[in-house]
Amino acid sequence: MSISRRQFIKSTIATSLMSQLPVQLWADDSSPHYDYILTAEPAEINLIAEATTAAWGFNGQFPAPVLYAQQDQPIRIKFINKLNEPTTIHWHGLRIPIAMDGVPFLSQPPIPPGGSFIYEFTPPDAGTFWYHPHMNSTEQLGRGLVGAFIVRERQAQAFAEDITCVLKNWHIDQQGQIKRLSIPRYAARMGTPGRWPTVNGLHQPTFDVPAGEWVRLRLLNVDNTLTYRLHIPNAQAYILAIDGCPLATPRPLTEHPMGPGMRLDLGFIAPSKGTSWEVWHGEHYPLLSLHSTVSSQVSKTPLPSTLSEGQHSVPSLPMNPIPEPDLENAEKVNFIFEWAGALTPTAQQKKGKHTFWTINKRAWEGMSKDSIPAPLVTLERGKSYIFTLKNITQYHHPIHLHGHSFTVLTSDKRKIIPYQTDTVLLGKNESAQIAFVADNPGRWMFHCHVIDHMKTGLMGYVTVT
Ligand code: C2O
Ligand code: CU
Ligand code: CU
Repeated sequence: MSISRRQFIKSTIATSLMSQLPVQLWADDSSPHYDYILTAEPAEINLIAEATTAAWGFNGQFPAPVLYAQQDQPIRIKFINKLNEPTTIHWHGLRIPIAMDGVPFLSQPPIPPGGSFIYEFTPPDAGTFWYHPHMNSTEQLGRGLVGAFIVRERQAQAFAEDITCVLKNWHIDQQGQIKRLSIPRYAARMGTPGRWPTVNGLHQPTFDVPAGEWVRLRLLNVDNTLTYRLHIPNAQAYILAIDGCPLATPRPLTEHPMGPGMRLDLGFIAPSKGTSWEVWHGEHYPLLSLHSTVSSQVSKTPLPSTLSEGQHSVPSLPMNPIPEPDLENAEKVNFIFEWAGALTPTAQQKKGKHTFWTINKRAWEGMSKDSIPAPLVTLERGKSYIFTLKNITQYHHPIHLHGHSFTVLTSDKRKIIPYQTDTVLLGKNESAQIAFVADNPGRWMFHCHVIDHMKTGLMGYVTVT
């Protein structure tokens, strides 16, 4: 594994604010060798001044350790469950074998309290991914079990700075106490929002950037509910990658909606010394500031580029080896996402388990060891598919497929330049077409990443034979 402890620390302390955080890498010197040892455990953390929050954290910390892997290199992670309830870890966006996908019952038995599991895989794609449990997601993600997973490109990219920002809006009150993470009347609408916006656990932090140098800014929406509308007023920034998938041609950032689970890699030349930029969420509030300081870089390798913009050319990231779907011969499958709040209450609902959403008229039944519901559809391995995704609700839904990256082809609401992703954000009443090669055998979850929605029906899976 070529990602060394030194590199990990270097990138962790790359910004002045991050340097105040404890740097902890769980290196295990005894054999067998693990690149990381990761725990999930209760953690007292400081989100607001003068108060602590009873959170759950990877390695007992928030933000969680940023895990680094190298494209095409195996990584081995020993995970230990120190919670009082079962869990699993899912590696969001990684095209890895089903046995490592971390979905309870479907791909592995739940890891009991005190139990452990070794996750071992080789990421085929470079980019910005993340990891989170796939059990009791409302609580486990809501309380802080969310972390960045960075896969470095085969060839090192020559950015002077590479900053990772994990965005989460905590459900806490003024005393730092965690409030209700899910409220049915919100679950039936946009999802239950938090009220304390944080970036790497800090409220509106400032990151130093080296004046005049190219910076890569990785933004990850690990929130249960919120869609961030990202823009940087008065700045010229470029979208390099969406959800871990590079754009063949980077394009200028205007406003970019990033739903739960989604990521955005931006590239920009840091402004002149002393200048500050702010990354905003719509017109609501600034999420973070970027402050230009004098560059400490002596020299840098020139960046590869695909397009010229004024004086400078914009760096592009190498494309990932995602198979091209055969659109001519692709088989078409339709999915309708619908609101079910008006249906007569089911027996489950009477027990306090609500159903508000359906996929093709069916709400996710839930799983256990002895009952795994039928797939939404069975796909033939190696074949190309075009899914038509039709949102006939008044709310938006970030629809995510495990184990594959797909191409977004069209939308009836906006102009699409086809791009690859693992999550497509459907606006209200929007229909989109996505295409992919079903090349990864297994049972792959297909769900909305608004946790309140997935927990109240908007979930299912597809089988690839
Ligand atoms: Cu972030 Cu089912 O995934
Ligand atoms: Cu996923
Ligand atoms: Cu949804």
